Amino acid sequence: MSALTTTSATGPAGLAAASAGLAGPAVSTTGLTKRFGHQTAVDHIDLAVPRGGVYGFLGPNGSGKTTTIRMLLGLIGPTAGQHTLLGRPMPGGAGTVLPRVGALIEGPAFHPYLSGRANLRRLDAADRWADPATAGVRVDAALDRVGLLAAAKKRYRAYSLGMRQRLALAATLLVPRELLILDEPTNGLDPQGTREVRTLIAALAADGTTVLLSSHLLSEVEQICTHAGVMHQGRLVAQGPLADLRPAGHRISASTPEPEAAVRILGELGVTDLARDGDEVTGDLGDTPPEKAVAALVHGGVPVRGFTTVRPSLEDLFVSLTGEGFDVSG
Ligand SMILES: Nc1ncnc2c1ncn2[C@@H]1O[C@H](COP(=O)(O)OP(=O)(O)OP(=O)(O)O)[C@@H](O)[C@H]1O
Ligand SMILES: [Mg+2]
Repeated sequence: MSALTTTSATGPAGLAAASAGLAGPAVSTTGLTKRFGHQTAVDHIDLAVPRGGVYGFLGPNGSGKTTTIRMLLGLIGPTAGQHTLLGRPMPGGAGTVLPRVGALIEGPAFHPYLSGRANLRRLDAADRWADPATAGVRVDAALDRVGLLAAAKKRYRAYSLGMRQRLALAATLLVPRELLILDEPTNGLDPQGTREVRTLIAALAADGTTVLLSSHLLSEVEQICTHAGVMHQGRLVAQGPLADLRPAGHRISASTPEPEAAVRILGELGVTDLARDGDEVTGDLGDTPPEKAVAALVHGGVPVRGFTTVRPSLEDLFVSLTGEGFDVSG
């Protein structure tokens, strides 16, 4: 279950004034650390989330993503380290910064006996910056954006997990935000809902909103993120633009009636991690250009029926960094 965690909101004029002259990262941490007893849940991480980007905060269950996000939002205090949000040191800057930050995080529930719409109306009414005269328009626009308008009158307790997730997302969209921090925003959504949220995040990013989203679904992150950070056992083991994070080189797959000869020839060429499955031979090309591999096979008298190259994925990166697989099916 998720719910909105923000204090209040500001209008577009406030946004413009607040962003004027502010450069630097949207989120920056230095040595951010959280210990629970003897366990170090977050271990000296230096996050850098550039403005205007979509940053995928990745890691398996228990790697420290939610704990980090809680610290970023000031919901729990760090054991050590510092951080800034939108250029302001936290927690000191919370009063000015948090109204410009929308957050979706596991936490206090919505009111179970009120409808989705009524829940949003309550949240909106609690926002001292929001104009009550336009509340209805604001709430319904947010519901529409997450595809919940048809279910607006249904009680929250009758909502499915995916509908609850959508409502939490709608709550972050009641007013424009400069930064959205979303903890597993597609958790509980079906494939169609996941696609819709992805489209929504892309649209928000196109409007200039910086998005930090955590996920254990690598394929999803690859589709929408410009940057990623990978957590493993509380440590940030990789971070940067997506293009820089993908492992170099290609994995190839050749289809041939003479797979054994193909394995031999490709091995001589320096292709590593060769494997044979029926007529299919796969391997890591490393620095070797794919066309050279095809030429070597043909010159070696191996008939090539099919030849494909596969770009390494974020999952390959993750496995190479941590020796673990990710739950990619969700
Ligand atoms: N309040 C707490 N008290 C004790 N341990 C905690 C507390 N909160 C988190 N932890 C521990 O810290 C570690 C990191 O947890 P965290 O929830 O940050 O992981 P996560 O990356 O968000 O995982 P998931 O993908 O399952 O959401 C886990 O081992 C967890 O058990
Ligand atoms: Mg979590």
